[in-house]
Amino acid sequence: MTVISMVQNMVSDWKAYSPVGTEQEVRFICDVLNLKPNSQILDLYCGYGRHAIELAKCGYQVTGLDVNKDFLDIAKQKAIEAGVDVDFRQSDMRDMQYNQRFDAIINMFVAFGYFSDIENSEVIKKIAQALKIGGCFLIDLLNRDWMIRNNLNRYWRHPSGEYVLAYKIELQQGIAIMRRELLNQITGTKTRAEFVLRAYSLTEMNNILEENGFSIVHSYGGFDGCEYTKDTPRMIILAKKTQTC
Ligand SMILES: C[S@@+](CC[C@H](N)C(=O)[O-])C[C@H]1O[C@@H](n2cnc3c(N)ncnc32)[C@H](O)[C@@H]1O
Repeated sequence: MTVISMVQNMVSDWKAYSPVGTEQEVRFICDVLNLKPNSQILDLYCGYGRHAIELAKCGYQVTGLDVNKDFLDIAKQKAIEAGVDVDFRQSDMRDMQYNQRFDAIINMFVAFGYFSDIENSEVIKKIAQALKIGGCFLIDLLNRDWMIRNNLNRYWRHPSGEYVLAYKIELQQGIAIMRRELLNQITGTKTRAEFVLRAYSLTEMNNILEENGFSIVHSYGGFDGCEYTKDTPRMIILAKKTQTC
């Protein structure tokens, strides 16, 4: 299949990276977290800061962590333009060393499952360590059960260009093999990459979260607040840290 036909057949996910999509996501984040002004939020894998900056505008103290310097440079520039102060940090999240610092941690746009099962659990452990008791963790994933039944291509716009993403699910290991193509509109060049993402079911996420002292408060199927079902493309989990492990 060519990229053009992939785009024509796409499930358009363009809203996800557009200001409209981000606005809806931030409204949802604020509603479900229901934090006091000045609460400390960590945007884990903040990318170019689209949520971190909007949350700072809402009056929260925001830290944004990402490994990618180029994204962080865009984020810092956008924060200056928006007139907000966000503590952007460049780090591999596996090196994160926060201890009971945050009231909430968000992990947006399918930024989990990059490593082995053991390392992915370690990531959740680090998140638990970084949260205060009673703090909330909001994680936005693709719904594995939906992905299996809807092997559709996705497409979105991004400051680096236009992404086209195709995937197939390998059932035994529960991994999604993702093929990503970035079209740079200015230079016309295409960059291709293939990567593997562990696609967790809600049951598996529940187990990992419970092992690390979390209880799931709610699972949503979209940023309009709808319930998670097998038919919702997203699986957005709100969990509370109820104990230290
Ligand atoms: C799908 S993007 C999501 C970005 C952002 N949450 C958003 O919604 O715009 C995933 C992000 O994870 C970052 N990332 C990947 N591996 C990482 C790691 N080991 N530590 C920190 N950040 C990482 C990438 O640089 C990228 O910005």
